[in-house]
Amino acid sequence: MKFIESLNTLRETRQQWRTAQQRVAFVPTMGNLHDGHIELVKKAKTLADVVVVSIFVNPMQFGANEDLDAYPRTLEADKARLEAEGVDALFFPSASDIYPHGLNEQTYVEVPGISELWCGASRPGHFRGVATIVCKLFNMVQPDVACFGEKDFQQLRVIRTMVEDLSMPIEIVGVPTQRQEDGLAMSSRNGYLSDTQRQQATQIFATMNSMRDALIARIDSQEAIIELATAQLEGAGLKPDYLAVCNARTLQPASNDDNDLVILVAAFMGKTRLIDNLHFIR
Ligand code: PAF
Repeated sequence: MKFIESLNTLRETRQQWRTAQQRVAFVPTMGNLHDGHIELVKKAKTLADVVVVSIFVNPMQFGANEDLDAYPRTLEADKARLEAEGVDALFFPSASDIYPHGLNEQTYVEVPGISELWCGASRPGHFRGVATIVCKLFNMVQPDVACFGEKDFQQLRVIRTMVEDLSMPIEIVGVPTQRQEDGLAMSSRNGYLSDTQRQQATQIFATMNSMRDALIARIDSQEAIIELATAQLEGAGLKPDYLAVCNARTLQPASNDDNDLVILVAAFMGKTRLIDNLHFIR
């Protein structure tokens, strides 16, 4: 696996792949890799001749009250996992290469509407940071295809919208959420949970499943279903930030006529904010 830190080296390497007519798949990450990331890499390998992974903890997507410095950095372990998966190149740029003039002088990408909902409302500026870094990384790596986890459902919608709106010639592939056996979605943030909290957090998946069944059965109103589900989460010690039933395309609250639905949840377990979702057809 090539370990690439400079943009010049990345561009030279990209040119060699282009000359050899090799198709490139890209998996952007912030590191601290878990099995969910490895699933993205495995998918990427089926889609192209060459797989590039990036690790960059993007300061632009962290809010002022979110601890960027505390974000786990596990480069050596991440490298070993990617090497074992047969990744061709790991791009590991520095913050000064990505944002040479600092964050305040940086041109940014903003996807209107969808970026302001849900996680965007709770974390102002977050999706601007995500769209900007993903756009920059796309321009650097110039992939044919890029893989993102469906666990970050709203992020995936923001990226798909950006790619479509800016006519980027890149195929975006969503990869299903990887779960532990007890249903907890894999996330770097699970590492912040105590054993008890981790056990209680499994209520998120259980609650979404009973919501889905109730929404399909249409016996109770959507409001009543959300109210009951909120109580279930709170009963397990979770503090919901939002819990919504949405149209899976627009992410607006679903109407009774909508059938392509997604349940979106963000909830605090102690100080740790967990997100999850369940996408289904009614
Ligand atoms: O999902 C993530 O890890 C990040 O938001 C991403 C897409 C790598 C952008 O920094």
